[in-house]
Amino acid sequence: MASTRKLLTVVCFNLLLGAAAVASTQPVHAPHVIVVSVHELASQTGVEIMRAGGNAVDAAVATGFALAVVHPAAGNLGGGGFMLVRMTDSKLHFIDFREKAPAAATATMYLDSNGDVTDDPWLGYRSIGVPGSVAGLVFAETHLGKLTLAQVMAPAIRLAREGYPLTWQEARDMRDDKYLGKFPESRRIFQRDGNYYKQGEIFRQPELARTLERIASNPSDFYHGAMARELATSIQKGGGLITTNDLANYEVKERAPVEGSYRGYQVISAPPPSSGGTVLLEILNILEGYDLARSGARSAESVHLVAEAFRRAFYDRAEFMGDPDFSKIPVAQLIDKKYAAAWRESIEPEHASISKNLKRPAIFSELEQYAAAHPQPTVTTESPHTTHYSVVDAEGNAVAVTTTLNDWFGSRVTAEGLGFLLNDEMDDFAAKPDVPNSDDLIQGRANAISPGKRPLSSMAPTMVLNDGKLFLVLGSPGSSRIISTVANVLIGVVDYGMNIQEAVNAPRFHNQWIPDVLSLEEWFSPDTVKILEQMGYTIKFGVGKGDEWRGYWSDAECIGIDPKTGERLGASDVRHNGKAVGY
Ligand code: DON
Repeated sequence: MASTRKLLTVVCFNLLLGAAAVASTQPVHAPHVIVVSVHELASQTGVEIMRAGGNAVDAAVATGFALAVVHPAAGNLGGGGFMLVRMTDSKLHFIDFREKAPAAATATMYLDSNGDVTDDPWLGYRSIGVPGSVAGLVFAETHLGKLTLAQVMAPAIRLAREGYPLTWQEARDMRDDKYLGKFPESRRIFQRDGNYYKQGEIFRQPELARTLERIASNPSDFYHGAMARELATSIQKGGGLITTNDLANYEVKERAPVEGSYRGYQVISAPPPSSGGTVLLEILNILEGYDLARSGARSAESVHLVAEAFRRAFYDRAEFMGDPDFSKIPVAQLIDKKYAAAWRESIEPEHASISKNLKRPAIFSELEQYAAAHPQPTVTTESPHTTHYSVVDAEGNAVAVTTTLNDWFGSRVTAEGLGFLLNDEMDDFAAKPDVPNSDDLIQGRANAISPGKRPLSSMAPTMVLNDGKLFLVLGSPGSSRIISTVANVLIGVVDYGMNIQEAVNAPRFHNQWIPDVLSLEEWFSPDTVKILEQMGYTIKFGVGKGDEWRGYWSDAECIGIDPKTGERLGASDVRHNGKAVGY
């Protein structure tokens, strides 16, 4: 009887989520080490490296290179990202390997003669930013890893050379992408020139294997050697701007993460040029003034309060965020608890605010001066696909990495002869004021295109500490929904007492100021939806524009630590095909 009920619960849950895999409400428990990523083979790679004596950074670097092979749509050599590391001695490292605009980039490079935005920011050679992933992973390995680069790259080289069986979804994604086929090298590698790969077929990538081997034996080749020349030549042949000088001038930046607190927990996350951590902390600061636990998860009251916090923090994102090497971003004021308290005064308990009527509380002259100097919000073309992975090792070192080509398969350009896809991260800059993007995301002039500048990101690799001890490792893809996803998961654990897997599974919601819409995943009760509508919300199920977006929200790949036993608790998102692997 009990087992029948359990089976029914699982079946119903699967039907609710539409998930292919059995949706568990329990995380994977591992006493020693764990890796959680969107691909089982990548998670296994990280674990294999820790079994061989590597620490969490070795494992993360190995997982990152493996994802570039087994998850080519988002895992990458030709993109960029952010890595947050916390070593057991409590030392924090934040490695910024975000792409940069090439030296020849200009503020108006994506406008046609009528002043309209072309397809260039998100498709083809001119959308490519100077890639940072290889530099970032090599930097992490050489500064914080215990093994050699060759050791941690060996599994990825093997996966590329020997291949791996494609899932139905992977085969479909390569076949159905509308743009991959426009680029002959991509069409040859990912679509076998029209003889599309099918589920279960082995996907081998010999050029990529060779490229990985070259990097493993001489990592500077990518930015300073023959590989840099081959890459720049291939991009320029297609009309792109990246030169060997751009590659030689690329540098990883070590930055201080943003830090704050939420109900006594310490929260550590991504600083600019990602908006992720700053916006997350602003949201949490606003929410700290409410008893969400009393309101209850998914109640109209708590959805309302959280959505209003999202609305205000995204309003500030639009105004203030950009590359900190190009303008001073007033992070300290934005994450000040006094600022959050002032914002709370504008939240009505029973009515939705109207986004266009929001007015920033004028309590900090730094914010007012900044806003006066950067008057008009501009719209960026941020769009959807990325990947996140989390690692904890036996000593308690932890790594959270979010990395991206920006779009699914990035610019769709594969570097000729090198076998890897290149990003379309230039799309994360604001191309032109007031032109809605695929994600309707608005940003400020601080994010205009400029040579050598890093485009604004929403990526938010995050850690939460409890009494100074590691408690959560969080992150997700999903564009602007990265931030609301991380917030939803964190609140799920801290406020609603969910275990990490329940918090990852729980239905998500999102508001990003403009558009003035509350996006809900499908699984909220009709009664709750009705109350929210009565409060004044315009509700939309799913995200973005068009049906293709309905199913895709985000993909949280997270870890919790059991405070009593120290067990590592891995939670891969039921919405995707990832896996938590540990021992
Ligand atoms: O850096 C950013 O915020 C975006 N390029 C990330 C894109 C993304 O997350 C898409 N994910 N599904």
